[in-house]
Amino acid sequence: MVNRQPLIAGNWKLNGSRSSVVALAKAVAAGVTSPVVEVLICPTSVHLADVLGVVGNSPVHLGAQNCSDAISGAFTGEVSAEMLVEFGCEYVILGHSERRAMFHEDSALVAAKCLTVQKAGLTPILCVGETLEQREAGQVEEVIAGQLDALLDAGGVDSFRQLVVAYEPVWAIGTGKTASPEEAQAVHALIRERISSHDAAIGEALRVLYGGSVKADNAASLFSQADIDGGLIGGAALDAASFLAICEAA
Ligand code: G3P
Repeated sequence: MVNRQPLIAGNWKLNGSRSSVVALAKAVAAGVTSPVVEVLICPTSVHLADVLGVVGNSPVHLGAQNCSDAISGAFTGEVSAEMLVEFGCEYVILGHSERRAMFHEDSALVAAKCLTVQKAGLTPILCVGETLEQREAGQVEEVIAGQLDALLDAGGVDSFRQLVVAYEPVWAIGTGKTASPEEAQAVHALIRERISSHDAAIGEALRVLYGGSVKADNAASLFSQADIDGGLIGGAALDAASFLAICEAA
């Protein structure tokens, strides 16, 4: 039985000012006590330097919310993996449903981003998840499999060694409609089985986070599930006390 270190990641999305993100990072860093749970915060790219200045010498890890698949060049507005490394990032959230929906990122592009990020020594957090319509149509397995297979096709099962998967049912993001522990566990098990079918050791070691309206009062029941290895937290991550309570529940 592989011991997977719990990971709680805060996705701060498009929020904060320089002063507010510094205050939030300080409060999180001051409140992290568990040597067991890995705690990660992901501000916007423009706030990375300020937040690194606060958490650089703390147990809190730093990540980004996106990254280009390009190394460098004429890609206006983009940020490269190497640039994120310079600002102390260890993780990058990729393929978030908001980017897939609003910025038309398809699974092939997300897979390319994962491989670029890994080449720079960063760990992708690969987001997968179905819409309510897809769930109601009984397409959950097909959707999740397609999102995972894009990376399996592009990089093989080895690309899941230095990677975290986040299952975020789109219908649970920002809605307060959290997946039940049983609903989430079923999809997490499906994710693990799909990777394990290619390489049992990689599948067993893979950390799979749940995201979608995780709150202090539902975190423990989610994290108690066999294949849920932590959470990717949105709204609740913007309040230090709520985020730390979720970390405590892991
Ligand atoms: O990436 C995490 C985010 O999508 C979840 O958002 O507000 O439902 O916790 P929220």
